[in-house]
Order: sequence, then C-alpha cells, then structure tokens
Amino acid sequence: MEIKVLQDVKDIPTEVLVINKFEGEKTSQELANKYAVEKDHFEGKLGHTYLLHTLGQTNADKILVIGFGKKEEFNANKMREAVAKAVKKLQQIKAKKAVFDFDVNADYGKSATIGAMIADYSYDKYKSEKSHHLEEITFARFSEEDVNEGRIFGEAMKLTRDLANTPAQIATPTKLAEIAKNIEGIETKVFDKEEIERMGMGAYLAVGQGSSQPPKFIHMKYSSKNPKKKIAIIGKGICFDSGGLDIKPASSMLTMKDDMSGAACVLGVMQALSKLQPEIEVHGIIAACENMPSGSSYKPGDILTAKNGKTIEVDNTDAEGRLTLADALCYACELGVDEVIDIATLTGACVVALGTYASGIMGNNDDFVWKLIDTAKESGEIFWGLPMFKEYKDSLKSDIADMKNTGSRMGGASAAGLFLQEFVNCPKWAHIDIAGTAYLEKPQKEFIAGATGAGVRTLLNYITK
Ligand code: BES
Ligand code: MG
Ligand code: ZN
Repeated sequence: MEIKVLQDVKDIPTEVLVINKFEGEKTSQELANKYAVEKDHFEGKLGHTYLLHTLGQTNADKILVIGFGKKEEFNANKMREAVAKAVKKLQQIKAKKAVFDFDVNADYGKSATIGAMIADYSYDKYKSEKSHHLEEITFARFSEEDVNEGRIFGEAMKLTRDLANTPAQIATPTKLAEIAKNIEGIETKVFDKEEIERMGMGAYLAVGQGSSQPPKFIHMKYSSKNPKKKIAIIGKGICFDSGGLDIKPASSMLTMKDDMSGAACVLGVMQALSKLQPEIEVHGIIAACENMPSGSSYKPGDILTAKNGKTIEVDNTDAEGRLTLADALCYACELGVDEVIDIATLTGACVVALGTYASGIMGNNDDFVWKLIDTAKESGEIFWGLPMFKEYKDSLKSDIADMKNTGSRMGGASAAGLFLQEFVNCPKWAHIDIAGTAYLEKPQKEFIAGATGAGVRTLLNYITK
C-alpha cells in the first residue's frame, strides 16, 4: 500500500473519500450530513463507520465516514485506531484507492500512517489466495515529514511482525543473523559457537546445545556523529521454545515460534534507526538459539557459569530465556552503556497477570521505568509496572550454586526479573515482558491474529525523542 500526501484534495476524483465525524458535530460533506447524520442518525462514535454511495453526486464514488468520538477526547492514539478501522472497512469493500480528508489539525500524520499500516498488514506468504490490499491512500493536510516518520515506524513493525510470524523452520538463528547483517546503515558482528564459548557465555550456550541449529550471538550498532547517549536494547531470541527436556505440553508449544519476538522487535527498531538518524548510539543485541530436547541438551541439575562468573543450577530447562538474557545483559553492560533495556517473551506468569493487552515492565530505576511506561502510553502501547520484591529472591536459592534459574511459580514474572538483575551492571536497566502482547491467538483492536510488533513503537519513540 502506497501512502501519499496531497495538501489540497478538494474535489479531486477518487474511488472513496474518507472523512471524519465527531460526536455531536457535522461532517465536512453536505451529502454525508444529509444521509449519514440527518437520515440515519450516524453518531460518530470512535471507530464506527458509515458508507455512502454518492451515485455521481460528488467527485468520489463513495464516501466513508469514520467516527472520531468526542472532539475534546480526541488524540493521536484515537487517530490511529480510527484510521485502522477505516482501512479495514476499505479492505472489506475491496477498494483500491482512497483519499483521507480529515477535519483536524495537521499534527496527526504519524499516528494516521501507523494506523493505516497496522491495519493493512497481513501474513499470507504461504496462502495460495492472498488477502485484498489497498493500492494507494492519500492523506490531505498532514505533513510529508510526519507521514514519512509514520511510514518508517510502520515498516519497522512490519519487519518485526513478519519475523515473529515466520515458522521456526525458516526463522532460525542463522537467518536472524543474516537479516541483521543486511540492515543498511547498521554495523553488525555475528559471533559463532566457538566465539560464544571464548566469551564465557556458559548459560546461553547451554540453552542452544540441544539443537541442530547453531547459536548466533548478534551485535548490531547504530551511531550518529555526536551521540547524546549510549544505550543497549536486548531481544530474547529463542527461535523455537519446545521447553527442552522439561518439554512443554503440545498446546503450549503451538505458538513457540514467537519466542524470538523480542529479537524481532530489536531488528525492527535497528532498521528504523538507520532511517531516522537520531543523535544517539544504540547497540542491538540478540543471543539467538533454539531450546530443543535431544541427547546433547542441557539437563535439569546442570550447573552453568554465566559471563560474569555467577553459577546457575538448572531447575527447569523451560526457563531458558533468562539464561540467554543473562549472558546478553553481561555483554551489554560491558559496553559501558548509559541504559540497557531487554525485551522478551519471558514468562507465562506475566500473561496470567496482565493478559494480552499490556506488557509487564520492571527495572532497577523507577524514573527510568516510568519514562518507558509514559512513552508506551503515548505510543499506543500499554506497559504495566510489576514489582521486584527482594523477598522473592529467596525462591531462587540453590544449595549448590549461586542461584537456580526458576523459583516459585507464584510471582513468576517478578522472579524472572530478579534473576535477570543478577547480571545487570548498569544504573538504568528495564526489563519488558511481552509474553502476552507479542503474539495474539485471536484478533484484538487493530491487530489481526499473530505477531503484533509489541515494543517497536515505544522503543523507537523513547530512543528518538
Ligand atoms: N517462552 C516461555 C514464556 C511464554 C509463555 C511466552 C507463554 C509466550 C507465551 C518461557 O521460556 C517459558 O517457558 N517460561 C516458563 C518459565 C517456568 C518454567 C518458570 C513459564 O512461564 O511457564
Ligand atoms: Mg521456555
Ligand atoms: Zn521461552
């Protein structure tokens, strides 16, 4: 779908003209006021649509009225939701081209574009029958600059969603490394198994040792000329999580190709950074591998030594993400970054606590965590703070090593956060658990089922603002 900007769209011929209606107000089109508002009492509740065939009375074949809700409550998030609804409706009527002319100020170009791109997304690579897509939409009033920024965000989300939707047979650690290397404007180093061994990443290595797919440690770097600060973003990159020897039941394993959604998010963000060129240095880090059962798998009871020298008794091989992140966190902190953020489909406990609508967030600095929560809200995502009560650390105690990799099932998301903290050597660290939000089993709001690109918008907005 091509997205264009045209300042003056007045009376240009089009297949569908999309206009807005605030509750209690008229629209910009007489015909819509006559039929939608006066005759059919279309109220204009947020996301509601009304389709009008003009029968040649205007230059548009059809007018689609989209509800914007109450004018005083309108904001960028509502713009995104409304545009997404409009695009879905346009798909439904198999429209090819549409002109959007909204009666609002010009500031909404970015959110409108993101909304259109989220709604236009489909993953039908492997379907013989492809879904219908719009060929082109044109926005009136918005600035080319805002729409372009939205486009970059939208493309980043698309890359992230495509990767997380890709079956594990294709999206292997080697494939992720290849994709990282191919991102233009980003410097990428990929470390193979021997190098990972040499770096002393015993926790990460153990997780991948049961798979016939080799692990790949991926380090991407974006930098401007005079970076204002230096940050690291780490994505959990378990390309398939079978649980390992502590194998998952079939129903829980079904979606575990998505266990690299954190990594996919980092890849999407890095791609966008090279286009947005913010004044910052960002390290994108992924410890990619598969968690598989085999004769060479790591076992419950094994003792692993992480990069910082701490020893871990394996309590459950299905708590693998934190083991890979432990070494990645050590590596990131050694780069001397000012801030480090990890993003991971880490715990079922987080899904139980927050569902599929909000991601969990924890960290070692409240101001930093709150900044990310606020940025998420502005970005149209929800991050919800989870506690890290030090009392819960007791459950990670091991008789024979520095810690175990799992504690009590209760408060499991927090226990995972406390485990990760053992490997953090940076004053500002945040951990984002996207286990519930990264991948949907059924459609939700503007998202179809499957990968959502969770975290991409928030991280990009945080990094670039
Ligand atoms: N990848 C899973 C977490 C997950 C669950 C992601 C559901 C997405 C949806 C993780 O590796 C895992 O298996 N966690 C275990 C930890 C437990 C063994 C302490 C869990 O949450 O059950
Ligand atoms: Mg697991
Ligand atoms: Zn996992």
